[in-house]
Amino acid sequence: MAVDKPDGATLLDPDEKDGLRFKHITVRGELDQLEQANIVEGLQWLKKQKNADILSECFVRELHKRLFGQVWRWAGTFRQTEKNIGVDPVQIAVQLRLLLDDARYWIAHETYPSMELAVRFHHRLVLLHLFPNGNGRHARIIADAILTKILDKPAIDWTGGYKPEAMNERRGHYIAALRAADKHDFSKLLAFVGL
Ligand SMILES: Nc1ncnc2c1ncn2[C@@H]1O[C@H](COP(=O)(O)OP(=O)(O)OP(=O)(O)O)[C@@H](O)[C@H]1O
Ligand SMILES: [Mg+2]
Repeated sequence: MAVDKPDGATLLDPDEKDGLRFKHITVRGELDQLEQANIVEGLQWLKKQKNADILSECFVRELHKRLFGQVWRWAGTFRQTEKNIGVDPVQIAVQLRLLLDDARYWIAHETYPSMELAVRFHHRLVLLHLFPNGNGRHARIIADAILTKILDKPAIDWTGGYKPEAMNERRGHYIAALRAADKHDFSKLLAFVGL
């Protein structure tokens, strides 16, 4: 399959490409469509989860599996290889645990306004880069689940009306904002989500 990727995206190694359930795929657009169809089903599943413990490893992995499991065999299982982004694979479970504990604390103590809490959580999650691929989409959906299901607030308008997968100006702003957040400057990310 084609490996051309937009700026800030994850490259897959051969082992991970072996996990593709559709062997006939040759171009990026076909893969995007299959993933998008799976995501639609995953979102339907998510909508039905009323009392789920969103801030648990189990839920975080289950959601990834629901979003990508019809396309990738490794969906819902943590990354085992090093990437251009992300912590050492052996650190993933423990770092995720720290993030989930922090998020519980932030919510209990109202450390940040709800939208800021969601984008800080989103950034920490994509920075860990739990899975071989799909981290951006998964982490945007989970940030929205925190807002809508835990905090009773509206979801973030991530795409601002643009096509989410498209390499465009808005994606450039998003990646630049995450890179600023890597250096502890959250102002661009907050501006990106309209704050
Ligand atoms: N410097 C960075 N710091 C933190 N996160 C980053 C950085 N660069 C990229 N990311 C995140 O990694 C994501 C890309 O990872 P991956 O390819 O696993 O996710 P995806 O869901 O397939 O991609 P996309 O978000 O483009 O749909 C980006 O969308 C972004 O969320
Ligand atoms: Mg990707």
